Amino acid sequence: MGQVRVFDHPLIQHKLTILRDRRTGHKEFRELVEEVAMLMAFEATGDLPIRTVEVSTPLAPARGATIAGREIAVVPILRAGLPMEAGLLRLIPTARAGHIGIYRDPAPLEPHTYYCKLPSDIADRQALVVDPMLATGGSAVEAIGLLKARGARVVRLMVLIAAPEGVRRVQEGHPDVDIYTAAVDERLDDHGYILPGLGDAGDRLYGTR
Ligand code: PRP
Ligand code: URA
Repeated sequence: MGQVRVFDHPLIQHKLTILRDRRTGHKEFRELVEEVAMLMAFEATGDLPIRTVEVSTPLAPARGATIAGREIAVVPILRAGLPMEAGLLRLIPTARAGHIGIYRDPAPLEPHTYYCKLPSDIADRQALVVDPMLATGGSAVEAIGLLKARGARVVRLMVLIAAPEGVRRVQEGHPDVDIYTAAVDERLDDHGYILPGLGDAGDRLYGTR
């Protein structure tokens, strides 16, 4: 069974609380999503492959390490995953990115895929799927399924807030996938929103409601 890692670092929890606050505006919201993704990446990338390299300081040769970014693919679920992708690519600029467009119907909350463009060598990369919200889990299960159908063998999921229902669905559908999250909230409401959550992530990012 995949691991669920909840990141309780004070900086992550501080920023997550501002994201939850209904008074936070779109610009600050987008910036914070990017920042939290960067902080979570710091915690989630502890086992990234590194290569030893030699450099010369102004004084002497030095042995160092370089991240083999070519082995990573960041895969945001559109559209709310985009600022998380931006944060991760700032940290790992040599990573590739794939994009999966999925929306869920208001009822019965099933995911619909409208776009999928992945690096051609996705089978040789670790795929990190990013989306702020893991609610019913339908979108994440669908996205991970698409990646695996294209050959991805190592897939991880990074979200800001997860509902217990979504965690269970991912664990049942993809028991090999680890989940990284800043919080596991209480439950879903009758419309499939996470309680207390932060509302509709896409709308809060882009001011569409
Ligand atoms: C939101 C969110 C996830 C999905 C989670 O996207 O960003 O992708 O809902 O819900 P689920 O776990 O029940 O599938 P939404 O479908 O609202 O699309 P949007 O990003 O285009 O607004
Ligand atoms: N999608 C969101 O944006 N928010 C939720 O709470 C659930 C799904």
